[in-house]
Amino acid sequence: MTDLLLTGIGRLTTNAGDTVADAVVMIVDGEITYAGTSSGAPDQGRADRVDCEGRAVIPGFVDAHTHVVFAGDRADEFGLKMQGASYADIAGLGGGIVSTVAATRAAGEDELFQEAAARVRRMIESGTTTIEIKSGYGLDLGTEMALLRVARRVGDELPVTVKTTFLGAHALPPEYRDDRKGYLDLVVEEMLPAAAPLADYCDVFVEEGAFSVDEALRVFEAAADLGMGARVHAEQLTHSGGAALAAGIGAVSADHLDHVTVDDAGALAEAGVVAVLVPGASYTLRSPQAPGPMLLDQGMTVALATDCNPGTSYLESMSMVMSLAVVQMGLSIDQAIHAATRGGALSLQMPDHGLLSPGSAGDLVIIDAPSAAHIPYRPATNLVWKTIKAGRVVAGIGH
Ligand code: NIG
Ligand code: FE
Repeated sequence: MTDLLLTGIGRLTTNAGDTVADAVVMIVDGEITYAGTSSGAPDQGRADRVDCEGRAVIPGFVDAHTHVVFAGDRADEFGLKMQGASYADIAGLGGGIVSTVAATRAAGEDELFQEAAARVRRMIESGTTTIEIKSGYGLDLGTEMALLRVARRVGDELPVTVKTTFLGAHALPPEYRDDRKGYLDLVVEEMLPAAAPLADYCDVFVEEGAFSVDEALRVFEAAADLGMGARVHAEQLTHSGGAALAAGIGAVSADHLDHVTVDDAGALAEAGVVAVLVPGASYTLRSPQAPGPMLLDQGMTVALATDCNPGTSYLESMSMVMSLAVVQMGLSIDQAIHAATRGGALSLQMPDHGLLSPGSAGDLVIIDAPSAAHIPYRPATNLVWKTIKAGRVVAGIGH
C-alpha cells in the first residue's frame, strides 16, 4: 500500500483537538501517522503527495443509518404526499413500506446489489467513507438474508466500510396481517439465527402501526443472546416508548427521536446510548426536526445520518443532512460536522474512525473550499474535491 502525504491543508478538522491551520496529514498503510501543523511534520519519505492548495480537510463522513438496499421507488407516493395525502390514504393505495417490500422481493439479488452499489458510489463521491446498512424490505427469511448479503457485498466490492443491521421487524408483511405473533415467531426463531453471521446489529421499528415496546423487547432479547447489539427506530412519528426501551436494554443507538422527551434523553445519556438523527426524514415528511440541541445538552453523543430509503428520505448526501441539521434543527456548524463524522463512528462502535490522529483510519475528505462550514452553507453543491479511504483516493477530482 502506498503511503500518502497531504500538504497545504488550509484548515484541518481532526475531532481530536482544535482546528489546525496550515496543516499536513500523513497516512501509512491506511492509518494516520501524523495530523497537525506543517512545521511539526516528521520526515515524509517516499509517500505519494497531494497538495491541497489551501482547501479544508475533515474526517470521512460516517453515515450511521441507511436502508440503501431496496428495489423500485415511491415517486408517485411522494407526489401524493406533497398534495396532502395522509399515511392512511397512501396505505389504502398500496403504498408505504409494503410496496417497497413487493418490489424488493421481485428483484434478483444481483439487481439489488447493482442498485445499492450505484447509491453507495454516489455516497462515496459525496464524501462518505463508512455506512450502516439495514435489511427490512424483505420481511421473509430468504429476502431478508439476501439483503444482508448484498449489504456485505457492498463493503467487499466498494471502497467503503459497511456495518450491517437486521431489521426484520420493520413492518408486518401482508401475509401475516392477521397473525402478528406468527411473524414475530418467524423473526425470533428463524430469521435472527440466520442473520447472526451476516449482521452486526438488530433494529426494530417501534411505532404505532409497526411494533410495540413489548414486541421489540422480545426481538432484542433474542438478538442479545446471539451477540447482536441493538439499534432502535424510536419516537419517529409519535412518542411510543422506543427511547425508554433503548435506555432500558442499553441499546447502542436510538434513531430518529423526533418525539423524544427531556426525561427520555436523560435516561438515554445515562445508559450511553448514541442519538442517530436523520433530519432528511423529518424534512420529507414535513414534520418538526428532532431536538438535537436538547439531546446534546442532556449529555448524549449525537450522530447524523441520511436514513436513505425510498419512502421518507431518499438522500445520499451527508452535506444535505448537515445543512438540515444546522438550518432546521439548530445544531452549530461544528456540532454538525462532529455528528456527521465522529458521532456516526461512535454510534457504530468504531473508536478509531471519524477522527484524524495517529492510529486512526486514513479516511478523510478534501473539501473544495477554505473551511468545512461551506458544506452546510452550500448543500446543493458537491464540494468534495477528493474522498480518501484508507489512504487511497477513491473519488473526486483526479480519481
Ligand atoms: O427510517 N421508520 C421506518 N423506516 C423508514 C421508512 C421506510 C419507508 O417508508 O420505506 C424510515 O423512515
Ligand atoms: Fe430508518
